[in-house]
Amino acid sequence: MTDASFIIVAIDGGAASGKSSTSRALSERFHLLHVDTGSFYRAFTAELLRQNVATDHPDAITSAATALQLDTAIEGRRAQMKINGRVVPDAEIRTPAVNANVSHFAAVPALRQALLEYQRGQADVGRSHGFRGLVMEGRDIGSVIFPDADFRFFLHADPVERARRRAAEGQQDSITERDRLDQSRKTAPLACPEGATDVDSTHLTLEEVVDLLSSHLATRLAPVA
Ligand code: C5P
Repeated sequence: MTDASFIIVAIDGGAASGKSSTSRALSERFHLLHVDTGSFYRAFTAELLRQNVATDHPDAITSAATALQLDTAIEGRRAQMKINGRVVPDAEIRTPAVNANVSHFAAVPALRQALLEYQRGQADVGRSHGFRGLVMEGRDIGSVIFPDADFRFFLHADPVERARRRAAEGQQDSITERDRLDQSRKTAPLACPEGATDVDSTHLTLEEVVDLLSSHLATRLAPVA
């Protein structure tokens, strides 16, 4: 059954642009399912690295990726992808090896295709678990996954500020290189989708960004927190 009151919020942006913290806060404020699609690409990357699949072998990537059985576990308000029955823990997807390889795997059209319907299916997961909508973050949510989303935002921030935020999380991550690869790939490149609300968070606190996006959502949905 489709529920017209179930809202879809798409948040795209580069690495360390504040998407995850913002999405998490919105999911709490409006009781939305939080779907971090970057974690899906990361989990695929960890699994393909484990299987010794090389980033430059599209055929091997296709057969390995399409053989994976995908499911979803809900943890709080967060959707966690299960691969072959197992949630791949954060400790395995936020490693230097995954950081260095994920954008190469994500540029392969067959791998993106293997995740496409799974990502769209998160709306049904959200509905069946009683959420009032979903907030999905990534690189191509407002352009490819949910181009008709109720709200589409694009977050960006100065690269120096983003590097500072990632270092503060204690992570070793080449965000500039990932952005370069994500922006220059042929399939679903990172870009602000036409008609999306562009937000520069360089000089804003997290709370200010969340308040700004909340003011848009509040035109459709009353906050719960
Ligand atoms: O969001 P996060 O930085 O964790 O994403 C890791 C990588 O996954 C990105 O650099 C990008 O290569 C890929 N990705 C993507 N499309 C998405 C989400 C993530 O290509 N929707």
